[in-house]
Amino acid sequence: MSQVDRVHFLSTLSWIIFMFIIWYFLIFAFIYPAYYSTLRGRAEYEMFLYKLILKNELLIRSFKLNNISLYIKTFKLLKVFNIASFFKSFSTNYGSFKTKYNEKKNFLSKEENLNDMGFVFKVSDDIAYARGLLKAQMTEMVTFKLESGKALLGIVNYLDNEGVAGITVLGDATVITAQTVVVRSYVQPRISAGYGVLGRVISPIGEALDGQGNIETEVTVNIEKNAPSIIARKPVREPLETGVKFIDSMIPIGCGQRELIIGDKKTGKTAIAIDTIINQKGNDIVCIYVAIGQKKSSIARVAKTLREKGCMSYTVIVASGASDSAALQYLAPYSGCAIGEFFRDNNRKVVLIYDDLSKHAVAYRQMSLLLRRPPGREGYPGDVFYIHSRLLERAAKLRDSIDENKNIIEGGSLTALPIIETIQGDVSAYIPTNVISITDGQIFLEASLFNRGIRPAISPGISVSRVGSAAQNKVIKKLAGSLKLELAQYREMEEFARLGLSLDEASIILLEKGRRLVQLLNQPQSNPINMICQIVVMFGGLGGMFSDISLDWIAIFERKLLFLIRSSKIFTVLDVVGRHELPEEFYAFCINLMKVYLSNEESII
Ligand SMILES: Nc1ncnc2c1ncn2[C@@H]1O[C@H](COP(=O)(O)OP(=O)(O)OP(=O)(O)O)[C@@H](O)[C@H]1O
Ligand SMILES: [Mg+2]
Repeated sequence: MSQVDRVHFLSTLSWIIFMFIIWYFLIFAFIYPAYYSTLRGRAEYEMFLYKLILKNELLIRSFKLNNISLYIKTFKLLKVFNIASFFKSFSTNYGSFKTKYNEKKNFLSKEENLNDMGFVFKVSDDIAYARGLLKAQMTEMVTFKLESGKALLGIVNYLDNEGVAGITVLGDATVITAQTVVVRSYVQPRISAGYGVLGRVISPIGEALDGQGNIETEVTVNIEKNAPSIIARKPVREPLETGVKFIDSMIPIGCGQRELIIGDKKTGKTAIAIDTIINQKGNDIVCIYVAIGQKKSSIARVAKTLREKGCMSYTVIVASGASDSAALQYLAPYSGCAIGEFFRDNNRKVVLIYDDLSKHAVAYRQMSLLLRRPPGREGYPGDVFYIHSRLLERAAKLRDSIDENKNIIEGGSLTALPIIETIQGDVSAYIPTNVISITDGQIFLEASLFNRGIRPAISPGISVSRVGSAAQNKVIKKLAGSLKLELAQYREMEEFARLGLSLDEASIILLEKGRRLVQLLNQPQSNPINMICQIVVMFGGLGGMFSDISLDWIAIFERKLLFLIRSSKIFTVLDVVGRHELPEEFYAFCINLMKVYLSNEESII
């Protein structure tokens, strides 16, 4: 190289170095302070650092810097100079680095963009806090990539402008550690739906809990869907028979209605719900039982009852136990509802039981307090009404549609039977009043009635159904009017009788009849009664047919009568035509026939 060339080369090199210095000076003196003075900029800067760490995660381990914050501080301090240490460490650990890098490359599979990843930096009480998920959306599903190779799901429930995402973990959060990688999924929580879930016990995220293998269904549905619009709905017109005489006669429920079952602990709330499921056998109605925060033994008992009664073929149990995380318990009713909506949108009738929404509210309170949302009345967050209203608004009767051949297809319906547990019969507490105001009526179960041996212990005073009577069977509707009157008169007369006053003959007859009617409305658990049988029994009770039978024998007499009705040919005819209006005389005729028959059977009475 000649002298001139050397000078030329050196001047060019010094010029490049000079430009490099100027460039860095400009960046660090002007551009960097201006850009990073904004919060968002700082967040992005943090993200940039985290991404670097993510890329060099294995390198950090070789540095033995387990504490990420310490590493970041060092990184910030060293800024560009740590490039030297990077190369140093790189050269010393090259062998292990190479293999680990390949592992890492495989781990960050192709479709998983680095921008969709974040890092857990804190885990506490089933909430994991992560950095790096700057573009994540609220209620988006994310996956934790565990060291064991397994994946755990979570839902983003908190975001702040410093790039921190609070994620509620749908499972056991103890396996998540600091530095666990979180990956975005770009979808809201989804669950498997379709005919494959019938007969199964599943978790709120669609995992099989009954040990019968994976759920085989092609369809997945969004757990959080909007309720149908007003235009898509139709008034409630078809009855939903629960098989419980008291309810079907006096608090009728219609398909698409929301009827609350409310009462103290151990008053038979679940029993009514299970009876309703059992009664749908052969009715072509899909039933979904959602257990929220229940004891696992109770859930197993429900599943066993339904299996024994042969009801699992049309039933799904969505179960979240008391030991499951609050997030799972919170998600359970929405999951059940989403499965129900699949059937409803396919023109099927669905009954959904939420057992119970008090525990759902408690789970939501726990989740919200841990996410540091401000507590309101009774410690519940401000939107506790909204979580229940948006859930129950999804119950609906859909309007009919017309297919390509111009045939009218009847719309599906989703009937919701939420359950609420009260404390000491206090219906004016926060959650009970909320849910009472959302639903179309309530079945109130009283502990005092339950203790007196009245089963189901339904309080006639405050139990109502606001829309169901439009859907009620015409014959029983007529009977229910006089039944309510008779029962009210009986209760009034009973008060008098308690005072020890001497009563005239008419009052004694009224009392005796009332006692028999109350006895008739008693019903054992898991023993729903067909509508036609109910009509015949009610007709007999109101007509004074049981007046010459002693109170203790009423239940046995009724059982025998029902057996006779069911086994006679006339029942098949009645069952088909009796759902429409039938002359009362017809039923009276049937009862008289039965009476004659029974009176010949001396062994019964
Ligand atoms: N109609 C009935 N006839 C006889 N026993 C009944 C009837 N209904 C409920 N029971 C009994 O009452 C008890 C409580 O019933 P159930 O579990 O349905 O009440 P619950 O209100 O759901 O209780 P929890 O508060 O634990 O959820 C059970 O032992 C059940 O067998
Ligand atoms: Mg219960």
